[in-house]
Amino acid sequence: MTVHFIGAGPGAADLLTLRGRDLIAASPVCLYAGSLVPDEILSHCPPDARIINTAALDLDAIITECKAAQQAGQDVARLHSGDLSVWSAMGEQLRRLRAEGIEVSVTPGVPSFAAAAAALETELTLPGLAQSVILTRTPGRASSMPQGETLTNFATTGATLAIHLSIGNLDQVIADLTPAYGAKCPVAVVYRASWPDQQIIRTTLGALKADMHDNITRTALILVGPALGEGDFDESCLYASEYDRRYRPQTADSPWSSWQHGDD
Ligand SMILES: C[S@@+](CC[C@H](N)C(=O)[O-])C[C@H]1O[C@@H](n2cnc3c(N)ncnc32)[C@H](O)[C@@H]1O
Repeated sequence: MTVHFIGAGPGAADLLTLRGRDLIAASPVCLYAGSLVPDEILSHCPPDARIINTAALDLDAIITECKAAQQAGQDVARLHSGDLSVWSAMGEQLRRLRAEGIEVSVTPGVPSFAAAAAALETELTLPGLAQSVILTRTPGRASSMPQGETLTNFATTGATLAIHLSIGNLDQVIADLTPAYGAKCPVAVVYRASWPDQQIIRTTLGALKADMHDNITRTALILVGPALGEGDFDESCLYASEYDRRYRPQTADSPWSSWQHGDD
């Protein structure tokens, strides 16, 4: 018996991996995390599956469900939105399950920052503008931030910021980022990326508060940085015609000329 942690993706039912779908279909029990997992994904469960929304359960109750499934010899599909590597609460469940001697597996999902970038049809690491993406959040009621992980500190990097769980903290986001990024810095807010009611706001740090839609109070990402703008950026070397590289040696004496596929 195994508890399969599965990243359910950002919302659109077809942004689920094939492996995730197959594990859901093969598991007699499905525990899913609240409103961010669409019903269509639950429709992959076997017809007689035990399907439980864990939004109202505490950690003990979730582990009790897993232990009951273990006693019945039934696999569990444990669904969390987006990917499991960020803000999924998977870590604490893994620790408890391992202590109980219950086997686990982890299947990744499409994270919401990637779905938001896709909705914007943009690359977050544009050459000459930004080469790093910082996935972060502001403190919430249930989560403080480790010292040093402040927006003010991250702002000194100039990187693209993907700020999660913070649509209710706009004043702080603006106040912390404006000194380093400037009021004209491009911002995009993506609400429910990949859902049918997705909304996109393109603005600047200076105009963010005024441009925000009243109905956007949760499930939104705030993306900040020069890569979000219409600004000029360099072309990467990757496809430059004169760039000497492994798959396209430019001269006979290129170090790549004698390289064979598989030499990595
Ligand atoms: C508890 S975290 C889950 C993050 C998730 N594990 C991931 O991989 O993106 C929830 C936050 O992720 C962001 N989020 C999740 N799904 C989203 C979506 N479809 N569109 C925009 N933001 C989303 C929002 O910032 C939301 O407050």
